[in-house]
Amino acid sequence: MRFCLTMKSSGVGLCVLALGMCQIIIARKVLDCNVTGEWRNELGSRLLLTSVGPEVRGVYRTAVESVRGAAGPNREAKVIGVISDGPQPTIAFSVLWAKGSCASWVGQCFTLPGGDQVLNTLWMLRSAVSSSMNDWDGTRLGDDRFVFLRGAESP
Ligand SMILES: *[C@@H]1O[C@H](CO)[C@@H](O)[C@H](O)[C@H]1NC(C)=O
Repeated sequence: MRFCLTMKSSGVGLCVLALGMCQIIIARKVLDCNVTGEWRNELGSRLLLTSVGPEVRGVYRTAVESVRGAAGPNREAKVIGVISDGPQPTIAFSVLWAKGSCASWVGQCFTLPGGDQVLNTLWMLRSAVSSSMNDWDGTRLGDDRFVFLRGAESP
């Protein structure tokens, strides 16, 4: 605003330019990444999250399984996690699957220039193996990119 006022004498065009810059800065501030709502990853898995302070809760519905049936009959499991504050928070969450495997994701929520939200994560999936001899075979590692579908209050 002060910039606009001091520039007024130099011409309306410059002032309009300065106002535009102010608006862009305001828009950036409003578009904090909010994880509460429904997400989908590149495989079609669905993630429903609610954040309350530094904690996240939710439901993960996976589109894939390490072994048929590993994630249970409806492929759904409870999500428990933590999240930082700030405009683009870091997040870590875990899931325990019906047949005893568990998985954790760590990542960060970003707001893209167009306003879309993404959650870029790395994950590890641990399947139970019969002994420490087979330990090498127990863990899978990958990356997931979730895109935001809708906020929690929408149908
Ligand atoms: C995040 O979005 C949910 C609804 O989707 C809303 O209830 C909540 O207030 C939002 N949180 C912040 C910090 O804006």
